[in-house]
Amino acid sequence: MAGMADRAAGDAHRSAALELFLETCVDSGLHAFPRALPDAPKRAPAQVHDLFGASASASASPGAAAAAPAAFARPRVPARAPVRTPEAAAAALADIAERAARCTRCKLAHTRTQAVPGEGAADARILFVGEAPGADEDRTGRPFVGAAGQLLTRMIEHGIGLPRSQVFICNVLKCRPPGNRDPEPEEKASCAPFLEEQIAWVQPELIVALGRHAAAQLLGTQAPIARLRGVLHPRPQDGRMVLVTFHPAYLLRNPNAKSDCWQDLQLGMRYLGLPTPSRKTS
Ligand code: URA
Repeated sequence: MAGMADRAAGDAHRSAALELFLETCVDSGLHAFPRALPDAPKRAPAQVHDLFGASASASASPGAAAAAPAAFARPRVPARAPVRTPEAAAAALADIAERAARCTRCKLAHTRTQAVPGEGAADARILFVGEAPGADEDRTGRPFVGAAGQLLTRMIEHGIGLPRSQVFICNVLKCRPPGNRDPEPEEKASCAPFLEEQIAWVQPELIVALGRHAAAQLLGTQAPIARLRGVLHPRPQDGRMVLVTFHPAYLLRNPNAKSDCWQDLQLGMRYLGLPTPSRKTS
């Protein structure tokens, strides 16, 4: 009898400890755990692991089901999200935009026409992150308005089925690099606080990284897109889920990759509980 009572007490203690641990994780902003173990093999068998633990036969590109990058091995202490009301978020995003417009932290301040902070709903469920403004964006001050932007808009409106105004769209860099060259490390480092503040205020359920620069910035990995696609990655610092897919400019050059991108978007839609049409409409 005494043995049974001891076991019951032990079980209750373990259960309370587990509950406390999970509560602490949620309080700290960690909403999910990496599915893959840090030392899992770099390339999983030809299976695509979806969020729900089911495995579908691989219709995505080879390598899409890679293990989480080593950066996930030891998540840093998650940042606490700011106390947020829709009004406070909208005001904070406007303030970020003003500060980006005046920013002189890097040399792009000398070559930009204007900064392109980002735009969209302050309470968006999805936040898209591109690389940097191009010529059209630099001219208009709005993200993704050129040819790649028009494709992104179609992906959002015809693919996901949301008005563009209901998502949030921004870039790793808020200013155009001359000639659309790759962002430089010090430019990314100077601009990173703006993106982090935007994420902290919008508090999206899903962040979509468009291309390798966004994926690298958001996940702290240099892994190629092909290794990052096909699973959702919790960010080490806040546990927010990141979906990595191709940059729309890449899709314009490689239209064959559009079906893989559509698979990626559907993974995100399933995660958000949005209906996924069995056939893409456009
Ligand atoms: N490409 C990007 O990465 N961002 C834009 O805003 C436009 C094109």
